[in-house]
Amino acid sequence: MAARFFLPALALVGSALAQCDGPEITINSSEDASQISSCETYDGDVIISSEASGQLSLDGVERISGDLRCTNASQLTAISADKLSQIGGIFDLEELQIMSSLQMSALVGVNQIKWIALPALQSLNFAQGVAKANQVYISNTGLTDLAGIELEQVASMDINNNQYLKTINVNGLTNVTQSLSFSANGMNLEIEFPNLVNAANLTFRNVSSISMPSLSEVPGSMGFYSNAFESFAAPNLTSTGNTIAFVDSPSLTNISFPMLETIGGGVIIANNTELTSLTGAFDSLETIDGDINFYGTFEAVSFKALTDVKGASTIYTSSSNTSICDLFNSAKKNQVIKGKVTCVTESDNTAGNGSSSSSGSSGSNKQSAAVSNFAYSAPLAGIAAFIAAVLFI
Ligand SMILES: *[C@@H]1O[C@H](CO)[C@@H](O)[C@H](O)[C@H]1NC(C)=O
Ligand SMILES: *[C@@H]1O[C@H](CO)[C@@H](O)[C@H](O)[C@H]1NC(C)=O
Ligand SMILES: *[C@@H]1O[C@H](CO)[C@@H](O)[C@H](O)[C@H]1NC(C)=O
Ligand SMILES: *[C@@H]1O[C@H](CO)[C@@H](O)[C@H](O)[C@H]1NC(C)=O
Ligand SMILES: *[C@@H]1O[C@H](CO)[C@@H](O)[C@H](O)[C@H]1NC(C)=O
Ligand SMILES: *[C@@H]1O[C@H](CO)[C@@H](O)[C@H](O)[C@H]1NC(C)=O
Ligand SMILES: *[C@@H]1O[C@H](CO)[C@@H](O)[C@H](O)[C@H]1NC(C)=O
Ligand SMILES: *[C@@H]1O[C@H](CO)[C@@H](O)[C@H](O)[C@H]1NC(C)=O
Ligand SMILES: *[C@@H]1O[C@H](CO)[C@@H](O)[C@H](O)[C@H]1NC(C)=O
Ligand SMILES: *[C@@H]1O[C@H](CO)[C@@H](O)[C@H](O)[C@H]1NC(C)=O
Repeated sequence: MAARFFLPALALVGSALAQCDGPEITINSSEDASQISSCETYDGDVIISSEASGQLSLDGVERISGDLRCTNASQLTAISADKLSQIGGIFDLEELQIMSSLQMSALVGVNQIKWIALPALQSLNFAQGVAKANQVYISNTGLTDLAGIELEQVASMDINNNQYLKTINVNGLTNVTQSLSFSANGMNLEIEFPNLVNAANLTFRNVSSISMPSLSEVPGSMGFYSNAFESFAAPNLTSTGNTIAFVDSPSLTNISFPMLETIGGGVIIANNTELTSLTGAFDSLETIDGDINFYGTFEAVSFKALTDVKGASTIYTSSSNTSICDLFNSAKKNQVIKGKVTCVTESDNTAGNGSSSSSGSSGSNKQSAAVSNFAYSAPLAGIAAFIAAVLFI
């Protein structure tokens, strides 16, 4: 008799275990989802079927060890989860044409966010806010801001083609270990990272303002392309591990890196039509490990502290200020620039083939004026060379 009661009881325990154990469950409705509502952790992937429609609730479950995925559910309007705090795999939502509500009040940690083609999604309803994620990829959504993505640390974040995105402010973000990338979002996107200190790689395209007042180290590269801003400043940045580039930004008039001492790659400043002066931008810069490439309309250049450019320098400016080439040619002569110097001003062109690299050696007035715009005049270069020689013994 006891056995008759015992067996069903065992079976019940067994099925309860099975419900929280993967490898995966495909759910079509909130009713299906109730099968895992008592799970503290669902150990596997939760897949919302493309047949799901209307509002879908994943209530009760607290953690999903694998992915939470939904693709091509064209009739789905909302996804909610009241207790879900962590997703151990990919939170993958793709091609959900009319999904306008995403409510996850308890969500704080996700391994990867991958949201692609969610045109009806204008805001997130994440009361706690996602503080931890390894990778965040958000493309082609209707989001107007990223409130709810309250990251403190992230490996990589790529936000692209979100046409309505107007502001991004990730206040808690301090470290980015791989990359941050923004491109082709709303025309007037303003980005603020008030507390970002260390960011491995940074790429900004089509952005209208960027504020990173605390940024102090960029172990990788920093690239700014086709942006609408007039000025950019990195007041606390001291070094980069790779190249800095400013390209094709038609309104840019002022860049400022007052504390930057070392660029571990090259410097590319090209095709920023309003950027007429490169004086005062890099007043503490001592070392450039790569090449200098300047192409533009600038009328003056200075590097007050520059003592070592390991690569070549290729300069073209539409300005006719020949002192600019004098400056680079004497820096080559003084061995500040180790590689080849190719410098052309518009006057070189109109004067007929001054291949310019020799123009610096004539005119002692010009030359001394030029030299003073780099760190060391000839005698100091001599002392620096002597010290270097001593150190190498
Ligand atoms: C969802 O529907 C599919 C087929 O339409 C079915 O195979 C699957 O078992 C359903 N999911 C649940 C949890 O009932
Ligand atoms: C979603 O739909 C597109 C086009 O209809 C199709 O190419 C793709 O394979 C679908 N994806 C999934 C996961 O069903
Ligand atoms: C963030 O970067 C700073 C500066 O490099 C470093 O000192 C700090 O340890 C990093 N913090 C974390 C949590 O990795
Ligand atoms: C920067 O990005 C490049 C390529 O995307 C990668 O190889 C490199 O490791 C990154 N730098 C750092 C410091 O993570
Ligand atoms: C972003 O900039 C690129 C050039 O880097 C340009 O081709 C593209 O049209 C711009 N996109 C938007 C949305 O402004
Ligand atoms: C800039 O760096 C200094 C020195 O490391 C630090 O005291 C200051 O708080 C930083 N400024 C910002 C805005 O983070
Ligand atoms: C460029 O910007 C820096 C920092 O914002 C500022 O101190 C400097 O005066 C500006 N220079 C010009 C010429 O506007
Ligand atoms: C700048 O513009 C010139 C002329 O259009 C082009 O050849 C060059 O590749 C551009 N430079 C960069 C870095 O985009
Ligand atoms: C020409 O360039 C030199 C070197 O950058 C600079 O000191 C000088 O002010 C410039 N002259 C004019 C008229 O801009
Ligand atoms: C400069 O010289 C090169 C090659 O010698 C030639 O192709 C070019 O047309 C010349 N430019 C001018 C402005 O004379």
